[in-house]
Amino acid sequence: MDTSKSIVQQVETKLTQEHGVALFVKRDDLIDEQVSGNKWRKLKYFVELFRERKNEGILTFGGAYSNHLLATAAYCAKENIPCIGVVRGEELNESSNDTLRDCAELGMQLKFITREEYLIKDDRSYKEYLLEEHPNYMIVPEGGAGYSGMLGCQEIVAEIRKEVAFDSLFVAQGTTTTSCGVLLGLRGNEKLHVVPVLKNFPSGTVMRELFKYAAFDNEFVVDVMDSVSVHSDYHFGGYGKADEELMDFIRTFYRETGLKLDPVYTGKAMYALIESVKRGELDNQTVVFIHTGGIQGARSFEEKYGKLY
Ligand SMILES: Cc1ncc(COP(=O)(O)O)c(C=O)c1O
Repeated sequence: MDTSKSIVQQVETKLTQEHGVALFVKRDDLIDEQVSGNKWRKLKYFVELFRERKNEGILTFGGAYSNHLLATAAYCAKENIPCIGVVRGEELNESSNDTLRDCAELGMQLKFITREEYLIKDDRSYKEYLLEEHPNYMIVPEGGAGYSGMLGCQEIVAEIRKEVAFDSLFVAQGTTTTSCGVLLGLRGNEKLHVVPVLKNFPSGTVMRELFKYAAFDNEFVVDVMDSVSVHSDYHFGGYGKADEELMDFIRTFYRETGLKLDPVYTGKAMYALIESVKRGELDNQTVVFIHTGGIQGARSFEEKYGKLY
């Protein structure tokens, strides 16, 4: 994985200038042409573990439009690792959409299961069943969640700090793996702003649970969670939902800065950041936005809303 392409780039808008905000973007979307962003970060240590354990292949899970499935397929293709994607929805097939088609073309074997079955995918007995079918495969949780995923994301902060001293970081939140990893990398008074893309998402609880799952002690978790600010009003209706306002924001931001945002994650997170700037909450700060990628997911929105970039 070559993260040297992920530069820290200064971006200026009229509004950030007015508020004395120095805005930088950590361009994890540039890590790879095909699959960008936090996915590589999350998979890195799983792949290391895979090599150490001498597994036969990697098996993971995702929905019909999963960035994670596509990233796993691309990573495994590059590393010559056999891989299986377990997909939610028995009615789907390899040509149901671009994401699934790309996964299959990259050599991922797709296995379609019912929504009911998908609900129990993390149960021990279901994993045992999968491993009976695919012996010695390494099971990677949906979205690359867990400690290995966190560890890879922690490295983003060290890379940013080499380029710029910052007050606040902004990042989009789904499973919370990326934000938990980033949080582990913070020091002193640095703050982390998270923007959940799911509606009514219990961000703090999910982050605490993930830390607990990764065996961090309670005192440590209480301490680090103090640096987190949750922006819970920017889900635009929930996961994968969008509206004209969000689309207009993405278009305008692209026109003003040349930076592409996606409607599922980074568009919502940047929207929250800009709203905080408008409210004067970031005045005279150095703020870094972590661009986690996901631009390939914009394709399916352009059919409904028209061209974004
Ligand atoms: C482009 C993009 N940004 C942000 C996220 C959120 O990351 P996490 O699920 O680790 O919270 C995801 C989901 O993995 C994503 O695909």
